[in-house]
Amino acid sequence: MSRDPQHSRELELLETRQREEAPAADLRVNRETSRVRIPEQGALPRSAALLERLYHGELVPRERKPQVIDTRRSCGPFMVSVDEPPMVLLDACSQIATLSHGFAHPGILAGLHEGRFDGCLWANPDSTVTPSPELDDYGAYLLSKAPAGLDHATFVCAGGAEANEKALRIARLNSPDPTRRRVLAFEGSFHGRTLVSLGATSNPAKRKGVDMPGFEAIFCPRDLDALAAVLGERGGELYAVIVEPMMAEGGDIHLAREFLLGVRELSRAHGLPLIIDEVQTGFGTSGSFFWWTHLGLGDTPETAPDLITCAKKAGLGVVLSRWADPEPAPVNVASALRGLIQAETAELQAELEAPIRERLHALAAEFPELVSEPRVAGTAFAFDLPSAKERDAFIGQRFARGFMTYHAGERTIRFRLASCWELSHLDDLFARVATALRRLDDPSAAVYEREGGKRQRFGQLDIREITEEDWAEIMALEQRAYEPARADSEEFLRATAEAGLGLVARDGASDELLGFVFAAGLEHYAELSGPDQDPNLGTGNTLYAADLTVSEGARGRGVGRALKSRQIQWAREHGYTFVSGRNRIGLTTQMAALNRSFGAYTAKVLENQYGGDATAEYYRIPLRSPAPAKKHARGLDLASGLQAPFGPRPEFMATRELVGPTASRLNLSNWATPDSVHYFEHLRAILPRGTGHLYTTSSRDELLDKSLRCLKMARAEATIAVGFEGGYLGHTTASARSLSDPAGFGEGFALFDWPRIPHPEDVGVAASVAALQGLIDAHGAAKIVAVFVELVGERSGRVLGSEAALALAKLCKTHDIPLAVVETASGGYRSGAGAWGLDGLDAGFCPNLVLWYPGGQLGQIFIDSRWWNGAPLQLISTWDGDELSQIRTHEHLRAAHRLELGPAINALHDLAHEAADAIGEGARVGGIGLYRTLSFGDPKRAAAVLATCRDAGLLLGRGLPDTLTLVPALDVEPAALRGPARTILLDAISSSVGG
Ligand SMILES: Cc1ncc(COP(=O)(O)O)c(C=O)c1O
Repeated sequence: MSRDPQHSRELELLETRQREEAPAADLRVNRETSRVRIPEQGALPRSAALLERLYHGELVPRERKPQVIDTRRSCGPFMVSVDEPPMVLLDACSQIATLSHGFAHPGILAGLHEGRFDGCLWANPDSTVTPSPELDDYGAYLLSKAPAGLDHATFVCAGGAEANEKALRIARLNSPDPTRRRVLAFEGSFHGRTLVSLGATSNPAKRKGVDMPGFEAIFCPRDLDALAAVLGERGGELYAVIVEPMMAEGGDIHLAREFLLGVRELSRAHGLPLIIDEVQTGFGTSGSFFWWTHLGLGDTPETAPDLITCAKKAGLGVVLSRWADPEPAPVNVASALRGLIQAETAELQAELEAPIRERLHALAAEFPELVSEPRVAGTAFAFDLPSAKERDAFIGQRFARGFMTYHAGERTIRFRLASCWELSHLDDLFARVATALRRLDDPSAAVYEREGGKRQRFGQLDIREITEEDWAEIMALEQRAYEPARADSEEFLRATAEAGLGLVARDGASDELLGFVFAAGLEHYAELSGPDQDPNLGTGNTLYAADLTVSEGARGRGVGRALKSRQIQWAREHGYTFVSGRNRIGLTTQMAALNRSFGAYTAKVLENQYGGDATAEYYRIPLRSPAPAKKHARGLDLASGLQAPFGPRPEFMATRELVGPTASRLNLSNWATPDSVHYFEHLRAILPRGTGHLYTTSSRDELLDKSLRCLKMARAEATIAVGFEGGYLGHTTASARSLSDPAGFGEGFALFDWPRIPHPEDVGVAASVAALQGLIDAHGAAKIVAVFVELVGERSGRVLGSEAALALAKLCKTHDIPLAVVETASGGYRSGAGAWGLDGLDAGFCPNLVLWYPGGQLGQIFIDSRWWNGAPLQLISTWDGDELSQIRTHEHLRAAHRLELGPAINALHDLAHEAADAIGEGARVGGIGLYRTLSFGDPKRAAAVLATCRDAGLLLGRGLPDTLTLVPALDVEPAALRGPARTILLDAISSSVGG
């Protein structure tokens, strides 16, 4: 419970206001499936109002594009703004190559509505606590595609930068000398924006101010002789070679097979692991699953790399490797599942290559003075313009021309399409691109002209139930509309109308028959191809849409839409969960688009239909929001509280519409949505004391990396971050590894030589502060980037008290060194003191930064005005968080501020202390509130208790090697802690023996 009733009321009011704006979970779907739209003068009033709510007071950098996106209406290539009328753009970059099938991916929709997301949608399961079948399936799928010899798959939370950091960690462990400090990368490279991946990115402008002296990458020209020379001279400094097979950010530079093979051979000759960065090129972008295999490489171990990294379309960071990952970390499982679903149909992207190539070459022929080097592979294509001036003039027009894409390198325009693109979309895009090229010198080219206004609608449409008099006309229309193999018989249609629904649409003025619709329960069609294979057959939950026909003269005027809408309404009224039906592929594009606009997804492709070799789509339109198929047992879980603060299936999640944000994932670094604005408004209302701005990340490790970069940009000389003994800031990126206590992790854990000072709880405040003073004296304050301290040690349980906090802050302030407090174990109300552990410390203590990992694929950096860097696009990564994770965290915050945590905190306190008494000498209880640790002073005994408890059904978390963590859900029943958990834990302790 927030301790300030006034503040609680403000949060309640905010929630009421936001809930009024939020879409209901069972809302009828209305997706844009057919056309670009530009409102009069490009007016985006709702977007503008939402963005102002986000930006005011510079809460976040002003870097979002002007359209706030409606993920519920976006579909396929069409990205729809929240405005009325909306701006609808063709997303010709697929969210920077992150969507394999555009918005509202049919496989993800199917997964959501058919139970595949049951285990990971409502809350994020901690994959390091309980095995994750989704991750196992994903790993197996990826390894089945991997080049020869890559037998291990591992996942990281954020994206490409983190995947590369993980790959570099594994490579360094397996390099000739694991103390080496440099990576070889190539000119033109981009590998991400965490400290080491950015260090391997060749563009000096991107690296400005964040180089780490002594660890700089060696950049080699894209030439094998140069490579041989560099390796000959400096090979002994290197621990890995990293290269993108197609350098995307550098300007879509397609590297030659021979060159890459040469890189493979030379790196092997020097014993250096080779990492292929397929973050932007993997997952079918080239038409083959990997760009490397697209080049005909990787069939044999000789031509295979040692590691491949993917992200973007993968949904999270992926490393495929010859060597196992010794240090896995939790990830957002729903993102992994989205990645797996995109992987399953990734190769469909190959089909677009030929039609793109044809149009691209025609474009180059039409604009010989402007367009050069047209290049394409799969869904990735690009061309060069004469200079940066034309490039900027082109990009400046994109919204006015109705499409979205990005430049790359100096003068390259690049496109990334998705397999949902149809030929008509391609033609539309190329016509728009041609107009943009034609108008490069036109000063008014970026002025918006209205496009795609209201559709023509039939004036007086009369829809009513079929009567006997309608039949002759119905059958005449049926026979006119379909070839004999597809036409239904009168007997069939009459039986349908009798069993379910039969409606005709007539012109209210002339009474002419314009169309009709028939539907009945799926069971009525048990023999038909499609329904016969529907797993819902026999459940009574599906209305089968047997026939919807519109007369030729009435098409394109809303008759089909009105009939379909009535059919869906009827299905809802009669309690159905789904409407299903069939469309002949190729002949029914408009009908398929109409169905998709109502939320349809392809449930199955049916071969050999209509008495021949035609294919048909069996589609399904869901009428309700996804609901979990199985009940989740809560169990006694004291391990997953950070990932799932309200257990595996909090009831409040059922009221949230999750389909849009899950199936139409956006790059939140570029776009805002109403849900994300609501979430940030909530954060604004609970900003940790002293802070006024925030950055978002996609993981725990990225919290540290982004903070360091932000601070380093303002502290040109600073290269040393300071941590504490026992501390934990993550273990994936090099910076997190270099600041976290290495106990329990593998060899060569740190990369940078960063100091850790003793914790005040261990040595007293004076000694701890003296240690920091010693570092300042030794290195000079300007060399120190920041001091990072956990309010509650996630692995150690050590607590930062007020006295220590004030003393550290005083010293840091004297030397103008930023002080960052980590609230992962204490934030989100867990400490019991309020939203932040900080609320329980002396009111005079104000850190400069507060870092919080709330679980899932999300992290928040809160920062004060002293160190805030508001420059747009400086501190971004592809994702900048995941909207589903934001929605979950938002609901957790809303629910948590109402909880009375006292009784559970007392019960956990008693449990921990009773357990410590049972352990005896050397035992220690750490933590506060609902984050407690139990140290045994003996790693073997801790491991034994962990295993015994697990066997008895009690899950405990792991901290430092001798420490277990007790981290329940915030709404844990005190009785569970005092009853079954207590019995199991005390029994396990009494039966355990030390080592
Ligand atoms: C080749 C390559 N590597 C790494 C990255 C970084 O990925 P992320 O932004 O997910 O960290 C990118 C992003 O564009 C990329 O193109």
